Amino acid sequence: MKDLIVYYSLEGNTAYVADKIKEKTGADLLRLVPKKVYPDKGFAKFFWGGKSAVMAEKLATEA
Ligand SMILES: Cc1cc2nc3c(=O)[nH]c(=O)nc-3n(C[C@H](O)[C@H](O)[C@H](O)COP(=O)(O)O)c2cc1C
Repeated sequence: MKDLIVYYSLEGNTAYVADKIKEKTGADLLRLVPKKVYPDKGFAKFFWGGKSAVMAEKLATEA
């Protein structure tokens, strides 16, 4: 049975690690992509990301 790594990555760090794990294990990758687009730079990234966390938002994703 093959392993599946399911992950989310805003800025690419988790994607990088997931890819490294894939290289070592041969697992498949599934990156979750939020339907809502978040800014990934500057103050806006922390403002909207922080608000999302504080409000415990559950994001719809497309994979
Ligand atoms: C809104 C926001 C909140 C964050 N909160 C934390 C936190 O509480 N603790 C932490 O260690 N890192 C926090 N980070 C840093 C991210 O976890 C870190 O940059 C991570 O490597 C991002 O992974 P990604 O590149 O896969 O999106 C936060 C980043 C953002 C944008």
